[in-house]
Amino acid sequence: MINNPEIGTHYDEESVLEVEDLTVTFAMGSPWRRKVLVPVNHVSFSLKKDEALGLVGESGSGKSSIAKALTRIYTPTSGEMYFHGTNVAFIRGSELRKYRQKVQMVFQDPYSALNPLKTVHQQVQRPLRLIGNTQYSVDSLLEAVGLSRDLQYKLPHELSGGQRQRVVIARAMALNPEIIVADEPISMLDVSIRASILSLMNDLRRRYHVGYLYITHDLASARFFSDRIMVMYGGHLVEIARSAELIRRPFHPYTQLLLAATPSKRQQKSALPQTGYSTPNLWSTAKGCPFAPRCLYVRGECTINRPPWTWVSSTHGVACFANELFRQPGSQM
Ligand SMILES: Nc1ncnc2c1ncn2[C@@H]1O[C@H](COP(=O)(O)OP(=O)(O)OP(=O)(O)O)[C@@H](O)[C@H]1O
Ligand SMILES: [Mg+2]
Repeated sequence: MINNPEIGTHYDEESVLEVEDLTVTFAMGSPWRRKVLVPVNHVSFSLKKDEALGLVGESGSGKSSIAKALTRIYTPTSGEMYFHGTNVAFIRGSELRKYRQKVQMVFQDPYSALNPLKTVHQQVQRPLRLIGNTQYSVDSLLEAVGLSRDLQYKLPHELSGGQRQRVVIARAMALNPEIIVADEPISMLDVSIRASILSLMNDLRRRYHVGYLYITHDLASARFFSDRIMVMYGGHLVEIARSAELIRRPFHPYTQLLLAATPSKRQQKSALPQTGYSTPNLWSTAKGCPFAPRCLYVRGECTINRPPWTWVSSTHGVACFANELFRQPGSQM
């Protein structure tokens, strides 16, 4: 067993992005009663070349805040984000513009992401022109995302939800990204077309070597799409592992709860490992593990200290004091 006090110090040359100790905070309240919200609390992980990394967690756990920090819509409060070895957490000006081309974001609602007054052609052509991209044409991008050419003179409202999301993806691809941060890209679409959008994203990954941070509430789709999955709770990264491994052997009590709540496991609902529901405390004054109020395995230290990060194997890490959950026969903690 590998104990690693610093989360994510798994540097390796394949990584395109290394996130170290990323923290995002928002100052709330009036100037004389300032409170600080911490939706991203010392999070570390890496994204390898062409990798699809899933990010799951319940509403308010900080998933979109991570996405917005990675795409530098938000400036992190502290921490580092190394893109090909350069810390991009606080870059500005032309450096930031270049980085933003390489790390594109696809949002949940494709309709609000598109300009309602511009045709598909105009919206895909604009980023091509912006960076002088002669490698692709509007036609080739529409073909790549599975849209027929006849649609290019249509306006967004004339398209279905799935077609709109394909236009958004084509527009992102026009900038030759290395990473696409997809924040619940299928959750507003009809159930019948969700799988086809994920297949398209997977196809683009292979054809154009683009990596993904795929954000979802849904562990089943994360497993379907991602090589690895990380789980967040209350702004903390609580577990990361290869997808099949995370589903087979979830260690963190929250991951176990999430898994027990997926449709195929609904019959196990009576055995959900939690003591009650409470929304996690995201204020900067919160201590210990954010899951402690709901956790069956809670003990004194959980409410005082941040749980240590343990690499149970070289690819499976978990932040929890209840190490009896992941102690293996013969291993030493
Ligand atoms: N710009 C902001 N200003 C203030 N608070 C914010 C801001 N952005 C996010 N938050 C707060 O941070 C917390 C985490 O929000 P975030 O949108 O990152 O969660 P999420 O995991 O994406 O949730 P969901 O699954 O509902 O999309 C929430 O309490 C949210 O209200
Ligand atoms: Mg979100």
